[in-house]
Amino acid sequence: MTIDFGLLNRKALVTGSGRGIGRAIALRLAQAGCDVGVSDIDFAAAEAVAAEIRALGPSSCAFKADVSSASDVEAMFSSFLSTFQTIDILVNNAGITRDTLLVRMKETDWDLVLDINCKGVFLCCREAARTMMRARRGKIINIASVVGINGNAGQVNYSASKAGIIGITRTLAKELASRSILVNAVAPGFIKTPMTDKLPDTEKERLINDTPLKHMGTPLDVANAVLFLASSMADYITGDVLVVDGGLVLR
Ligand SMILES: NC(=O)c1ccc[n+]([C@@H]2O[C@H](COP(=O)([O-])OP(=O)(O)OC[C@H]3O[C@@H](n4cnc5c(N)ncnc54)[C@H](O)[C@@H]3O)[C@@H](O)[C@H]2O)c1
Repeated sequence: MTIDFGLLNRKALVTGSGRGIGRAIALRLAQAGCDVGVSDIDFAAAEAVAAEIRALGPSSCAFKADVSSASDVEAMFSSFLSTFQTIDILVNNAGITRDTLLVRMKETDWDLVLDINCKGVFLCCREAARTMMRARRGKIINIASVVGINGNAGQVNYSASKAGIIGITRTLAKELASRSILVNAVAPGFIKTPMTDKLPDTEKERLINDTPLKHMGTPLDVANAVLFLASSMADYITGDVLVVDGGLVLR
């Protein structure tokens, strides 16, 4: 007998899923039976992932959207709903870093990171909630970071955005519970993706050394946590932050 995730033919939208963690989430949800909207600011990357998903069997469609733009987000949801009729699962994954120490950080780097990482989550949740509230069901999963819990020198903009995501998650869990919409976050530690590939080797060594399991996580490690929260196995969990970090946040 196999485990039923309760996800067959569910309609999922994953932002920033043209590569890295978002791509792994989109593929994992598809493997569990979801039809998946692959959204990214990089349309060619999104199309390539959508093609990978269609090769697995489920329906998939690529959408180009900058999550920090209200008009882009509205257009993305409109196209998504025309294609898939409803939305059961929203994964807010799109995110960027612009790291530097406080005194060197430009206001534009603060604004850009907060706009994409935090306002983007607000805009996408607002659009998804309109449909989910009518349907009286839905799952929203926001990709935060352990940095939003513990802080990290050189990431004042990023850590504020990720702490903000945790605040959004807990608030919406309360606000939307009466409509059976469950809102949770996943907080990854140090995961091997193009985002972390660009870090200096000394920083990578420091982070691995600070991780009790002594190695980086994979995008699949994060995708499995998202799969769990999206599945019927997590139907009594809302407002939680599931940490996937090899113990990093314990320090
Ligand atoms: N890699 C890690 O160690 C790590 C740790 C904690 C949290 N996270 C979070 O996980 C998420 C994914 O990270 P990743 O490592 O896969 O990053 P990545 O840079 O490899 O991928 C991010 C994706 O988001 C897309 N994107 C960027 N700006 C966008 C925008 N304005 N609108 C729509 N899409 C946009 C990019 O084109 C890219 O495809 C991010 O929210 C990140 O903050 C990553």
